[in-house]
Amino acid sequence: MISCKEYAQVMKETLRKRIETMDKKPALSIIQVGDDQASDAYIRGKIKDCEEVGIRYIVQKLSENVSEENLLYNIELASCVADGIIVQLPLPRHINVTHVKNAIPKEKDVDGFRRDSLFECCTPKGIIDWLDFNEYELCGKNAVVLGRSEIVGKPLVNMLIDRGATVTCCNSHTDLFLESELSNKADIVISAIGKAKFLDWMDFGTDCDVIVDVGINRDENGKLCGDVDRDSIEKLKDGIYVTPVPGGVGLLTRVTLLKNIVEACENGYTENTVKDAISFLKKKDYFVRKIPNNLCENAKECLETGHGECDYCSCFACLVGNE
Ligand code: GUN
Repeated sequence: MISCKEYAQVMKETLRKRIETMDKKPALSIIQVGDDQASDAYIRGKIKDCEEVGIRYIVQKLSENVSEENLLYNIELASCVADGIIVQLPLPRHINVTHVKNAIPKEKDVDGFRRDSLFECCTPKGIIDWLDFNEYELCGKNAVVLGRSEIVGKPLVNMLIDRGATVTCCNSHTDLFLESELSNKADIVISAIGKAKFLDWMDFGTDCDVIVDVGINRDENGKLCGDVDRDSIEKLKDGIYVTPVPGGVGLLTRVTLLKNIVEACENGYTENTVKDAISFLKKKDYFVRKIPNNLCENAKECLETGHGECDYCSCFACLVGNE
């Protein structure tokens, strides 16, 4: 199999070249509420990816105590200027996640979280694209999905069915003995249960050739690991490819997000200029609270005048680009 890492590199290079030819470069808005450390790390990854391929981005970092109303305003603000919007999860408990998901226009929901999103969820889509890239034939295969979440298990089941696989989906209520029996009979197992090293060599039979490990957990020593005990598989099973954690499915998710952002830009739903965005916000009595610290000279000017001419910082003015 071509590894997730190699695949992601090839895809990023393809996207970089595609973006190079685009007159208006794609723009992503990442909204973060609070200071969750895991979210910081995810966002750093997304920023690095954007920089590598030439996607402009802005991070709107809001306080842990921000009201839902203010967060929704920030989403509206982002909608004026960005092709894709991400509200990083988890959110504080006082904020209703469904309200937030529905506030992101479906044509900018590059995470694919809305049911009517124009985009597919990044993790399952990334897995299927990677399997396709490897010319892994799913038609007629026996696939077992462990986990039934809205953003991984459930959409993945549909995608596998669409490709002609026979699919079984287990959840936390599935009898453990049955679950092990099912995965033993599978050709491909995709695990998204979030339990460190929960599956070992005994859970997989001779037909199994690929295990896709979606879990991101910490082991007993605090080290990142997946749902699968890789060591036991490597020692005791031949011919099974297990995606690594870290460096596996996470990279597939990230590259699919980039594809979605580029597609969102190409769809051409974002035509607003800074001037439009500012007048829209003024009409809504909106006060832009968060301006990046290292605002460049051009940006200072364009926030006042509505003209942006700078490609070097990530303030809204530069994000939108020239009028
Ligand atoms: N939190 C962890 N992963 C993700 C992701 O892919 N998207 C969003 N919005 N939040 C996350």
